Formats: sequence, C-alpha cells, structure tokens
Amino acid sequence: MPNKVIIIDYGSQVTQLIARRIREAGVYSEIHACTVTADEVRAMQPQALVLSGGPASVGGADAPKLDKGLLELGIPVLGICYGMQLLTDTLGGRLAQSHTREYGPAMLQITSQTPLWKNVPETTKVWMSHGDRVLDVPAGFRVTARTDTLDVAAMANEERGIYAVQFHPEVHHSVDGTRMLENFLFEIAHLTPDWTMSSFVERVVEETRAKVGDKHVICALSGGIDSTVVAVLLNKAIGRNLHCIFVNNGLLRAHEVEEVQSLLGDNLDINLTVVDARKRFLDKLQGVEDPEKKRKIIGHTFIEIFDEEAKKLPQVDYLAQGTLYPDVIESVSSKGPSAVIKSHHNVGGLPETMKLQLIEPLRELFKDEVRKVAKELGLPDSIVWRQPFPGPGLAIRVLGEVTEDRLSILRAADSIVQEELKASGWYRKVWQGFAVLLPLKTVGVMGDDRTYEHVIALRVVDSVDAMTADWSRLPHDLVAKISGRIINEVSGVNRVVYDVSSKPPSTIEWE
Ligand code: XMP
Repeated sequence: MPNKVIIIDYGSQVTQLIARRIREAGVYSEIHACTVTADEVRAMQPQALVLSGGPASVGGADAPKLDKGLLELGIPVLGICYGMQLLTDTLGGRLAQSHTREYGPAMLQITSQTPLWKNVPETTKVWMSHGDRVLDVPAGFRVTARTDTLDVAAMANEERGIYAVQFHPEVHHSVDGTRMLENFLFEIAHLTPDWTMSSFVERVVEETRAKVGDKHVICALSGGIDSTVVAVLLNKAIGRNLHCIFVNNGLLRAHEVEEVQSLLGDNLDINLTVVDARKRFLDKLQGVEDPEKKRKIIGHTFIEIFDEEAKKLPQVDYLAQGTLYPDVIESVSSKGPSAVIKSHHNVGGLPETMKLQLIEPLRELFKDEVRKVAKELGLPDSIVWRQPFPGPGLAIRVLGEVTEDRLSILRAADSIVQEELKASGWYRKVWQGFAVLLPLKTVGVMGDDRTYEHVIALRVVDSVDAMTADWSRLPHDLVAKISGRIINEVSGVNRVVYDVSSKPPSTIEWE
C-alpha cells in the first residue's frame, strides 16, 4: 500500500480540496467523517492526519469533538480552521467565541519559523475563514503567524508534530498553500510521493485478481470513461472471466456503438456482448412525453435486458461498477444527501435481485485521476476527454415524444456540434456541448418556398462538477458555423437557437 494521509471531515465545503491537493503532491489521502474513532483510524495505518475546517463553533451544542486518541497515534497532525480551534480547545488553550465570521483574503505574517513555512515568504496572501479565534495557544505550542486582525493565525508544537493554521491552505487563493501542504507531507511527515497512476493500476489489477479468483464478473459498459476504464482494468486482471455488456438502446449518438465495439471488443480483445435493443426501447417509449417517465422506462428496460444477458452467462458472482471517490465521500461524510432534482439513471447501479457482490476499482479516485489512469492504460483521447453523456441518452434531448425520425434529426445535428467543437479546440474547454431537438416547429424561408420545420437548441456549458454551470461564451463565428451547417445539412431543421441560461436556476439538460 502507498503512504496514506487521513483527513477528518468536520463539514467544510472544501474538505475534498484538501484530499485533492495532497494527492496532486503524490500522496494518497482519504476523507473520513468526524465520527470515526481513534481506534478505527489506527487500523487504517495512516502516516499523517489532517483535521479539516467546518462550520461549527467549538462551544456550540452539537459541535463535533476531537477524539483525543487521534493525537496519541504518534503521527503528525495538521489542523485547518475548525481543526485548529478543536486542537486549541482539546489541548487546554483558550478560544474567544464570536458571532461574526471573517471570510476572505488576508495577509499572513510569519512570526516564527517552522518546517511548515519552508520556502514560504514572510508575508503571503491566504484565504481566511474563522468565527471563533484562538486567544491562548495550548501548553507546548507557540504562535507561528499572525495577520492584521488575528494575533494567532497559526501555531505549532514541533516536538509533538502538531501544526495548525486558521486559514485554508487548500484553496487556490492561498498563494503558498500548496507549498505549505507539501511541507507538511515531506518536511514534517517525511512521506514519499508514491501515489502514481501506474502503481495504482498494478495494485488494483493484483487485488482484483486475488479477490475474484476464478469467479466471473459482469460489467455494464456505457461508452463513457469510467466504465471503460473499469473494463480495461478488469480485463487485465481476469481476462475472459470478465463479461461486458453494452446495450444499444437506440438512444446513442452517431457511431457510438461502432466505436465501443472497435476499441474494446476488437482492439483490446475484451469479452464484450453488444445487445441490439433499439426496437425494444423505442416501442416502450412510444407516446411518452414526460421526462421522468422516459427515465424510468429506460432504467427498467435496461435492468431487464442486463438481467436476461446475465442469465446466459456462467455463474456470475460480481458486478463491476465505475463508482468514483466523490460518491463514496457523499455517503460516508457527515453531510446530508443533496436533493435529487432529476432521477439519474446510471448504467451500473443495478439489479438488486441478482445478489451480486460489488467490485468498484475506481472508488478511490477523483475524476481527473480516472483520466490519468485512462492515459496510463493507453486509451485514446476520445475516451480520456469524452464529455459526460446521460444514461437515458438522446431520449432526454428529444423533447416530447421519442421517435426514430426525431432521433435521427437530433443525431445528425449533434454530430455537427461535436465535430465543430472538436475542430475549433472548444470541445476540451467546455464541460458539455450538445444539440437538443425542441417539440415545436417554426416558419422559415428556403429559396422561394416557405418552410415549417424543427428547431434545434445548442446547449454548451462551462462547469467544474455539473452542480452549477454557466453557458459558454463561444465565439460568434463558431456559433454561426454550427448553426449554418445544421440548417443546411440536416433536413427538417430551419432554425437554431443558443441557450443562454445558467444552472441554477436552469439545468444543463433540457429534460
Ligand atoms: P442537469 O441537467 O441535472 O445535469 O443539470 C447535470 C449532469 O448530469 C447529467 N445528467 C444525467 N446523467 N442520467 C445520467 O447519467 C441522467 O438521467 C442525467 N440527467 C442529467 C447531465 O448530462 C449533466 O452532465
């Protein structure tokens, strides 16, 4: 196993960033809810500990506490923000309560050198966040930095390897924050940066082989990066005992089926079954206009087919899924689940009746790390940089009833969007870009004739995690080119509009 840093999550919005920065520095890190006990943490055998920030006030009624045993593990500890206040309170220092929060940039002045400040200038901009403040540091600690408004902005007990900062080194606004985190990892905890994607691939392949033995694993492919990487990793580990199922639901974009077949089935020689279920999905979707109904029908039909395919195989014991680390954190951390706005159907979250055990080789990874693994595995850019594509596919982009005719209009228009985004270099700059077929017709003129035809909406957004998004400021010339090509080349379309709404209050998809 690589070195491991455990981050205890006290509920800050940016705890994930701590994990990411540490991993970017080449050290594996995991986030655990603040209810974890010292014994549980000891069993995980970490080499260092970070206490995150959080919204609570240490004196508050439901404020999370620090298990003192965590400080007896004999490993270095870094407290950030609330983590610093917890350390102060637990170790006998004194805090001043405050009802107002100071939040924003501040100039940090280093007042006493520690290894945490190695190569950090004496004054440096940091992102401050605090309500309560430290008045007296605990015995054995000294103040190591201040700001104009805060006498104790950082403190340290070098002998015990305990360091604390009142600001957020993990956010980009803290100019030397990354260096400070690296100092904690390499100067204080003396870790080696051994978290690399090639070592990850090696380890996962070995672990999977050991776990699965000669049993069989089934895996639903969606054509996206996550399930593709899962399939390639498992293929390396267990070869023919992996059974991949790709369902052609008739709701895919142009050439998608051929691309999956050629890359995974032909080039990589993965055990792949492509199920042609186009008619079955379209029959079930006939006459259905409600977006949520469409999603449910597609989800259920997918499960039925997956189940039927599984029955044709030898005894299967495992289901492989492309679960990523952020999903894992969502379910373990102290945060409540965020509201479900649309019932997302993802291939993979599948059939309970099958009583399969899960294999989730990517559950330790952030999305950017999955991309690195995909590169490490030699997958082409078309997979590594593929934009997200919803499980219900084009069905939620054909507004209103989904028919073969309307799907082919959308597919042709969408192909042009993809082509032009790629050719102009914008494909990788935006989060998602696609066409939507609207459920209305408008009047146009072509030559001497009046036309009455479909409208395509162009939806292109910038986002970091799809939770919020803004419409992309594409160059007008590019929008003009896409619009011109769609109207000229896709018969049945005489108008293209550009969607200029952000999320919230709109959503990225139109249904
Ligand atoms: P919205 O439209 O909710 O989309 O802003 C956020 C992200 O999720 C994708 N999306 C889906 N993905 N099944 C999926 O697998 C779905 O039903 C679904 N609906 C939306 C959307 O493409 C965007 O990336």
